[in-house]
Amino acid sequence: MIIIKRDEELEKMRHAGRMAAKLLAFLGDHVTAGTSTLELELLSRRWIKKHNVQSATLHYKGFPATICTSRNNVVCHGIPHADDTLQEGDILNIDVTLIVDHYHGDVSRTFTIGKVAGNIHRLVMRTERALMKGIAAVAPGAYLNDIGCAIEDFIKPFKYGIVTALCGHGIGRNFHEDPLVMHSRQSQKGPMLKPGMTFTIEPMINEGHPDVYTSQKDGWSVYTKDNSYSAQFEHTIAVLEHGYEILTLP
Ligand code: MF3
Ligand code: CO
Ligand code: CO
Repeated sequence: MIIIKRDEELEKMRHAGRMAAKLLAFLGDHVTAGTSTLELELLSRRWIKKHNVQSATLHYKGFPATICTSRNNVVCHGIPHADDTLQEGDILNIDVTLIVDHYHGDVSRTFTIGKVAGNIHRLVMRTERALMKGIAAVAPGAYLNDIGCAIEDFIKPFKYGIVTALCGHGIGRNFHEDPLVMHSRQSQKGPMLKPGMTFTIEPMINEGHPDVYTSQKDGWSVYTKDNSYSAQFEHTIAVLEHGYEILTLP
């Protein structure tokens, strides 16, 4: 069941989304070669305390951190670690989900560290464009599947792997609620989009094969099977009377 948000609830979603985007931008300013992902986690903890908001990921199903940090061939759900030090040529996705006044805002982006190889830079840029294509398909009266179609149609010529094991999701009072948002074309058009729906779009694009596996070591980190690099961008979106709104802009 997809929960439709009233205007007062959308206002709270805006606030949560804006705070999550602000934290992500703050962390982005600290993404440099030599910095460890644990240092980013500690910066995040301090920012969260100072701004009197709450992390949705800390202790979520046992997740141990306030941000997910996913580097190079880690697709998502990477855990910040002192040994995980950024190097020139790396890419790093930071995923921030905050709870503000009971509502969630969920946003992520992939950063490049120093000079990265041309093919990797293109992967990152095209993944962000794929997210924007998916967002542009959102409108009242459109169908959920239009989002995945738009992303797949854009990505197809590049021969990348669209990860299908993980999806976007409805969001609101719950971190994850209906609907599941696929990032590729489905055989069913899915539910019609209606004003007041709020969900994330968060395509994960592998330079190589779309298959992934979850680390047995930490139980969280999702890796590409073929060790190819993976990029991801995420926004939280609201369907409005006349289109959509990106809730996770600073
Ligand atoms: N923020 C992620 C998402 O986009 C979910 C992270 S869950 C965690 O849905 F437990 F790994 F933090
Ligand atoms: Co999400
Ligand atoms: Co997220």
